[in-house]
Amino acid sequence: MPDAPVTGVPALDKPTARFPAVAEPAPLGTATYDTATPLDTATHDTATGLVPAARRERTGPVSGAALETKDVSAWFGERKVLDRVSLTMRPGEVTALIGPSGCGKSTYLRILNRMHELIPGASLAGEVLLDGEDIYAAGKRAQETRRRIGMVFQKPNPFPAMTVFDNVASGLKLAGIKGKDKDSLVEHCLLRAGLWNEVRTRLRSPGGALSGGQQQRLCIARSLAVEPAVLLMDEPCSALDPTSTRRVEETIAEIASDVTIIIVTHNMQQAARVSDHCAFFLAEEGRPGHVVEYGRTEQMFHDPRDPRTADYVNGRFG
Ligand SMILES: Nc1ncnc2c1ncn2[C@@H]1O[C@H](COP(=O)(O)OP(=O)(O)OP(=O)(O)O)[C@@H](O)[C@H]1O
Ligand SMILES: [Mg+2]
Repeated sequence: MPDAPVTGVPALDKPTARFPAVAEPAPLGTATYDTATPLDTATHDTATGLVPAARRERTGPVSGAALETKDVSAWFGERKVLDRVSLTMRPGEVTALIGPSGCGKSTYLRILNRMHELIPGASLAGEVLLDGEDIYAAGKRAQETRRRIGMVFQKPNPFPAMTVFDNVASGLKLAGIKGKDKDSLVEHCLLRAGLWNEVRTRLRSPGGALSGGQQQRLCIARSLAVEPAVLLMDEPCSALDPTSTRRVEETIAEIASDVTIIIVTHNMQQAARVSDHCAFFLAEEGRPGHVVEYGRTEQMFHDPRDPRTADYVNGRFG
């Protein structure tokens, strides 16, 4: 049963089966463990048809940008929700952010492209360096940062009444980019997002008429139109069926050499399949969210240094 959510995430002091039976949907934000693809095969086997990121050959040139955070902390009002997160996301790689609900993964993503500051009462400290330049430095424009660092959300959000073609082209308009050959650009972006073959005869249909999985790839195509250096993805597959999820994962694998990708996921198999590096966030007992462990994905899943990481990736708490 692919991508089935798991409930009854065991408490730490009550060891139970590693992959408990599925009874009902997991509460939002609970880690899921795809019982058809145990973690061992997710990273060591290509039965899924996808080559795990760690095994993918990246021989061609790599573009994208390095994104580095130094001691990033965040608050909502007086409440501190993130504590000194320092991570480096390398160009041409996929970094997965994992951790239980409420540990600050989405907040961290929003800090990376200056969306955090749009929330009333939100504040932050620390530095975010895009290819070495602080995106929060005086004189840096938030809009330019958001063009270079795109975002795809949990729920596909195309403009539903706008055509498929215009949805992709709208990225250019929103970013104020002019003088591009729109026809070839739209085709190129839809190709890269793995959607072209499905929509080439439906370019004038409304975006809202596509399936959920197609809409999500349409959103990816729209993000790619402005040639971002970094793409942030916040649980991009959590509203999708397993087939659409697989298509989005293929898309991630295809664009990863051009765009630095940071993906939040509650699906451990997905993290194992798509990412090169992984960061495990945790907010324990009233403490703000922080990074417990960061490392190469294979190491994080098979030889984690911290027992809390081992517990989390093996479904012993969530
Ligand atoms: N707009 C907001 N106002 C106040 N508090 C917020 C706001 N957004 C998030 N928080 C709080 O910040 C903390 C981190 O939330 P965040 O959404 O970043 O967690 P998350 O790791 O993405 O969780 P999930 O896995 O459920 O998506 C939580 O305690 C949350 O309640
Ligand atoms: Mg979140």
